[in-house]
Amino acid sequence: MHLSANQIAHYRNEGFVALPPLTDPAEIAELRAIYDSLFARRAGRELGEHFDLAGNDNDNAEPVLPQILWPSRHAPELLQTRLHAAALAVARQLIGEDVVMTFDHAILKPARIGAPAAWHQDEAYWDGDQDYSSLSIWTPLQDVDRVNGCMEFMPGSHRSEVRTHHSIGHDPLVHGLEADAFDSADAVPCPLLAGGATVHDARTLHYTGPNRSDAPRRAYIQVFSLPPRARIAPRDFYWNRNKQTARNQRALAATEAGLLDRRVPGG
Ligand code: NI
Repeated sequence: MHLSANQIAHYRNEGFVALPPLTDPAEIAELRAIYDSLFARRAGRELGEHFDLAGNDNDNAEPVLPQILWPSRHAPELLQTRLHAAALAVARQLIGEDVVMTFDHAILKPARIGAPAAWHQDEAYWDGDQDYSSLSIWTPLQDVDRVNGCMEFMPGSHRSEVRTHHSIGHDPLVHGLEADAFDSADAVPCPLLAGGATVHDARTLHYTGPNRSDAPRRAYIQVFSLPPRARIAPRDFYWNRNKQTARNQRALAATEAGLLDRRVPGG
């Protein structure tokens, strides 16, 4: 996967770029089968890594925006794909040869009920004490447009600082974050073919709308980073401290039981 000078310039100037398919339909079909199996068995639920990103994560409620963090820990074959090799090649060209995949995640929008992912910057989920060179490669496993929840971006927003955020709906039981109010009139939607990708910087403001279609909207996201650096001036991302999520309770219990040895990121 070789990026053109125009694609690289678009990423640098706008904070995102849309790419044609990174793999072929046969592999996309295989990925869909893996993906559906992971969500059917709620992989990582007991570790706090399967949860409703936009709801209060009540065990009895059907999730409106189910997310799995680290799907590749449950299905290592996700990293033996042409998609992963192409994504790594893209990340190397955009932020450097030394990038590593920091984590991966999967966000499912169930047919008809799939909720929006509110406007946010991924860095707002992370540790305010560090500086990051990081990007996300977001790949739909079916075609996407504004009907089923394609990515939308605020061009140039990667050049701003991390905005103040709050839990979606100002509900501390909800893991998902939302940037405090701003004017999103100039947002750019990015429809994609199955297996295509958008690439965005950790500070680029982004959003996906609800899924109003009759089919699930599956997105698989790989996050690549250079090693973070300690900041001289730490930032207080208090909106993360304020959360009281069921997801976090499960993660703490799993950590105390020795089942979990990693911090849960997000984005
Ligand atoms: Ni995000």
